[in-house]
Amino acid sequence: MKHTRQVIALLAGATLAAGTAMVAVADHHGGEKKNPKDIHDVMEWTHKGRESMVAKVRDGNGTAAEIETLLRYYKFMATQKPPQGDEAAWKERTAALVAATEKLAKKSPDAIENYKKAVNCKACHDVHKPKDE
Ligand code: HEC
Repeated sequence: MKHTRQVIALLAGATLAAGTAMVAVADHHGGEKKNPKDIHDVMEWTHKGRESMVAKVRDGNGTAAEIETLLRYYKFMATQKPPQGDEAAWKERTAALVAATEKLAKKSPDAIENYKKAVNCKACHDVHKPKDE
């Protein structure tokens, strides 16, 4: 009997280890776990470049984890002060971005169109991004 119990304990241990390994993998796919310290970080990590997370999501190829990451970052952006431009306008713009990303997460039919509008790089940069960058 004692032996059986040991085997069961071993099995339970193995299952637990497998579970942990799976969580670790899921975490890896869960996108970015790091937290941005400013708007610059969000831009660098998710917006910059042709193969950016934003480009992928905008093309309708974003994973749930990526959308989740963007949502977290945009919510953070909404709490920040823009380096330039009216703060009320910034609040409005970032709120629209958060709302559009929430729609993506819910897979609303018009979510992609909505997101494309909200994430318009130039529209926001013209107002809020310092020219000398
Ligand atoms: C809601 C407003 C907003 C939107 C939408 C936005 N940006 Fe930005 N972006 C900013 C601001 C503000 C800065 C300047 C940050 C700073 O100087 O602190 C910036 C800076 C950047 C930078 C320079 C990084 C840096 O801070 O030095 C890049 C690259 C960039 N954005 C790419 C993009 C791209 C590509 C898109 C569209 C897919 C985009 N951004 C959409 C607000 C926005």
